[in-house]
Amino acid sequence: MSQLIRVDQTDQLPAGARKLYTVENRQIAIFNLSGTLYAVDNHCTHRDGPVGAGELNDVVITCPWHGWRFNVTSGHCLEDGPDLRCYPVHVEGNDVLIDVATTVGSNSDDGIYCYLVRYGALGHVGRVGSINRVPCRRGDRVVVNTDRGVELAELLEAPKDGAGRSSQERPTAELLRVATDEDRQQEVDLGDLHEEVLKASEELISQRGLSITAVDAEQLFDGQTIIVYYLGESTEKLGPVAVELSKTLENRRVQFQPIENIDSTEP
Ligand code: FES
Repeated sequence: MSQLIRVDQTDQLPAGARKLYTVENRQIAIFNLSGTLYAVDNHCTHRDGPVGAGELNDVVITCPWHGWRFNVTSGHCLEDGPDLRCYPVHVEGNDVLIDVATTVGSNSDDGIYCYLVRYGALGHVGRVGSINRVPCRRGDRVVVNTDRGVELAELLEAPKDGAGRSSQERPTAELLRVATDEDRQQEVDLGDLHEEVLKASEELISQRGLSITAVDAEQLFDGQTIIVYYLGESTEKLGPVAVELSKTLENRRVQFQPIENIDSTEP
């Protein structure tokens, strides 16, 4: 049985266009290739990367995360992996509809195990996924691969025993493993650059007369990424500060991240 959902108008999808839609809790990318519309999951079958945002060559899209390639007209995976889920597209008048009940060229068991974790100095909470069940429980330290880099996290919730893989929940990062003794030792070996980074940041910010304040810093588990949290207006002038700071920190990658949603009202 089909389930047609209207997502757009044809004039919003001219030849060569691609757009992203959220339909029934899934992200779906629609491509207009030479006048024909194709809809595919925006969830790469490798590790759930945003494949629809990848580089398109003719009918082949390359996932921006690790380079897996898929044919967007069929979902066929050009690597040794599962195909991408495709959806029939219908045009009725000026309406574009997707049939979300019918899938083409997909592996019906493309779900993933989803885990809730907390990570980072500011305690971000998010979902991470794994194509295999990872035996772990609340409170465990785990290693995750987020859009910031490889870092340690605290497990808040694991799938219940007996629960299968879910095709509904979409994690934003990958669960790599439960932290091992070697991981814990690596964390110790990384040392604490916190004070050094904050001091160097403040000096560079003050030299440039920027009206921002660096308030916290952390080094990710990969040892190569430093994140500096700041208060104040975001400005492109932070780019050169990050470059300078990187030079003083043995060329580690430096990111400045604003702290948002702070209530600045006087008590
Ligand atoms: S997530 Fe797409 S190639 Fe890895």
